[in-house]
Amino acid sequence: MQVRKMTAVLVGAGNRGCVYSDYSLCAPDELSIVAVVEPNELRRNEAGERYSIPENMRFETLDEFLASKIDCDFVINATMDEWHYETAKKIMEAKYDMLLEKPIVNNEKELLDLQRTAKENGVKVNVCHVLRYTPFYKTLKTILDSGDIGTIMTMEMNEHVGIAHFIDSFVRGKWNSVARCGSGFLLQKSCHDMDLICWLNNATKPIRVTSLGSRSQFIKANAPQGATKYCYDCPHNQTCLYSAQKIHVDVDSMPFQTWAHMNKPLDSITREEKLEDLKTSPYGLCAYDSGGDINDRQIVSVEFENGSACTFTMVGGACKAGRAIHIVGTKGEIEGNIEHSKFTVRRFDRSGDKFDFDEEEIDVSKSIHESTNYGGHGGGDYAIMYELVRYLQGDNSSISITKLDDSINSHLVVYAAEKSIQERKTIDL
Ligand SMILES: NC(=O)c1ccc[n+]([C@@H]2O[C@H](COP(=O)([O-])OP(=O)(O)OC[C@H]3O[C@@H](n4cnc5c(N)ncnc54)[C@H](O)[C@@H]3O)[C@@H](O)[C@H]2O)c1
Repeated sequence: MQVRKMTAVLVGAGNRGCVYSDYSLCAPDELSIVAVVEPNELRRNEAGERYSIPENMRFETLDEFLASKIDCDFVINATMDEWHYETAKKIMEAKYDMLLEKPIVNNEKELLDLQRTAKENGVKVNVCHVLRYTPFYKTLKTILDSGDIGTIMTMEMNEHVGIAHFIDSFVRGKWNSVARCGSGFLLQKSCHDMDLICWLNNATKPIRVTSLGSRSQFIKANAPQGATKYCYDCPHNQTCLYSAQKIHVDVDSMPFQTWAHMNKPLDSITREEKLEDLKTSPYGLCAYDSGGDINDRQIVSVEFENGSACTFTMVGGACKAGRAIHIVGTKGEIEGNIEHSKFTVRRFDRSGDKFDFDEEEIDVSKSIHESTNYGGHGGGDYAIMYELVRYLQGDNSSISITKLDDSINSHLVVYAAEKSIQERKTIDL
């Protein structure tokens, strides 16, 4: 289709907001970022420069932007989890279509209220479940929908979060406590996987959920003898798996998170400043005693109306990060790992006197967009924007589109899983 150039306003110019807005740099004929709303002055101006936004279109608060009644095609809402409800509601009431970061919100009442608000105001809201747009899951879904492997009997999935990512985000970082960010590990990290479970199996719907999980590794009782509050003066600093100096300075795994509080351009921060900062910052704390309460492992089981049974295992702190999936259907199987960009399809072979199965390897690596900016999430960060600008112009052909209505079930599954752990029972949806 012929694509008209669209205009968007960025609300929340942090890490994720810039990932999506960078589509305007990658595809300038399709998108322009015309205004930014960001309370942090440095970030507001960095985004302003990056997307060539004039001074009078750089807003400190959402209310100032809404009062200015600027015309645009959609708003990108990439504020942190705890701001989603308030900001999303106001943006919908002002009748802007919106791309909303996941998780939508952390409770059923607000979730259903946002669904109602979107309907009442006639706005389109798409949720950033970027994995649905990856060539890996999209191709897999196409095969499932074709009926090639029959009806899903079981689906096993896992997400192994690598050690540096887990420590940076969920042990020392901004998602380390439910009270602080409003999200648990499952909602924050793996609502993507709950979304995939519900979307891949949307011929039916989830009816029952049970879950087990705990935080049992990153607790004070496991700290080695003599460990100190901060890593810098700890006798185990050089040998500990979770050494702050190694993860955050030597490897510097997620600098946009670790050093964000220093409020300086990242490339201007020296090694010495980083080491000094770790003497007082949460990123320098002992990983066994960092004040967080997020689970470091969890298992979720979901039963669907047609009897299909799905399990999901997540763990924080793995050597090798990755997501694996194994679906068994009535006519065949699909098995793969997104990191390999390929999966295997098996089908029963009963031709002639055979009692066997054949195997086909599906390689999706060639379909991933080459831009390094958009290598993120297996190509999903790029593809969600590519498909969004088309969807908002009336193209309904994509099977991935993450409409708000289609994201409700997965959030309900997450809330039920957390309730199952708390109440030690199976939850009916
Ligand atoms: N889709 C994914 O795979 C994925 C990955 C990581 C994070 N996330 C989600 O993306 C969201 C943003 O995460 P991030 O790491 O980019 O956070 P961030 O802290 O880097 O950015 C959020 C920005 O929002 C700004 N902000 C706060 N309140 C605001 C308001 N009222 N109006 C406008 N701006 C406001 C903050 O100053 C900050 O700059 C979170 O909800 C997070 O859970 C999604």
